[in-house]
Amino acid sequence: MSAPLTLAQFLQQSTEQVEAAFTRIFPEQWPVQQRLRDSMEYSLFAGGKRIRPALLFAAVESLGKTHEHAVAAACAIEMIHTYSLIHDDLPAMDDDDMRRGKPTNHIVYGEAMAILAGDGLLTHAFYVLSTAASVGKASTEATLAAVAELAKLAGIGGMVSGQAADIMGEQGVTSLEQLIAIHREKTGALIAGSLKIGGLLGGANARQLAALDQFGYKIGLAFQIQDDVLDLTGTTEKLGKPQKSDEKSQKVTYPYFLGIEGSRLEIERLTDEAKQLILQAGFVKPQRLMEIADYLLNRDR
Ligand code: IPE
Ligand code: IPE
Ligand code: MG
Ligand code: MG
Ligand code: MG
Repeated sequence: MSAPLTLAQFLQQSTEQVEAAFTRIFPEQWPVQQRLRDSMEYSLFAGGKRIRPALLFAAVESLGKTHEHAVAAACAIEMIHTYSLIHDDLPAMDDDDMRRGKPTNHIVYGEAMAILAGDGLLTHAFYVLSTAASVGKASTEATLAAVAELAKLAGIGGMVSGQAADIMGEQGVTSLEQLIAIHREKTGALIAGSLKIGGLLGGANARQLAALDQFGYKIGLAFQIQDDVLDLTGTTEKLGKPQKSDEKSQKVTYPYFLGIEGSRLEIERLTDEAKQLILQAGFVKPQRLMEIADYLLNRDR
């Protein structure tokens, strides 16, 4: 048997699998407007860490299954994430002009096409996910459950609600509890969704699904706290997006309540708790999930 991949190799492999699938994602015979397609592909291929696909694959692996079960789902998650960034950067939202090291979608294609590129990626994600059973090895039942999970956690039961709360929060978040609720929804939900969909496609039992859900919300909250910290301490060059975007939009962030050191301690605490949950849920190969949690703890981009 070949040696297990290092984390760096695993992340690289996940990225390659998703990006290779992206090249085949729009059916040739569909009459997609060329400019719309260019605009969607501009953001899809702009890079990004591809953390959500990696988490989805790691969840599948933790159950002893292979990635074949999950490439379509990993693409769907990354398409939804990419759409959320295109819309998040729009003038009506965070009004940012750089993303993944390049000018934002609306700077290149204009606001109307950026909105439509987001709409296109969001809708097509569900088309792609629905093929998980026919193209991949997942069962029809698991695929249907994954569609429902994604619709909930990417939508009004998660990210979209969180983004709405974030926008309203610009007018004054007064407690840490309120901020935690926003962060959980706007970022935690899609991260939890990536893990749960991996779990569903990999055949997780109820206890394992609950652990993936809680693990996801905890590392997802930690991920957004780190995003807030990096907004202050990172460099635009490394982040590929403007530093101090939150200050510009007068966002209340974690460091505002807890300071940078306090925020870092909170990230560590959440990551530790998250890892414990996985270790107690009877996964055959939990190691990759642990490694990714530690990697996110120390990320600088
Ligand atoms: C940025 O997500 C938006 C948040 C939810 C914090 P990522 O940091 O995963 O962005 P990319 O995909 O690497 O560009
Ligand atoms: C974005 O949060 C969360 C999303 C759901 C897109 P931010 O607005 O902090 O993300 P960045 O910093 O622009 O990537
Ligand atoms: Mg935002
Ligand atoms: Mg933003
Ligand atoms: Mg941010």
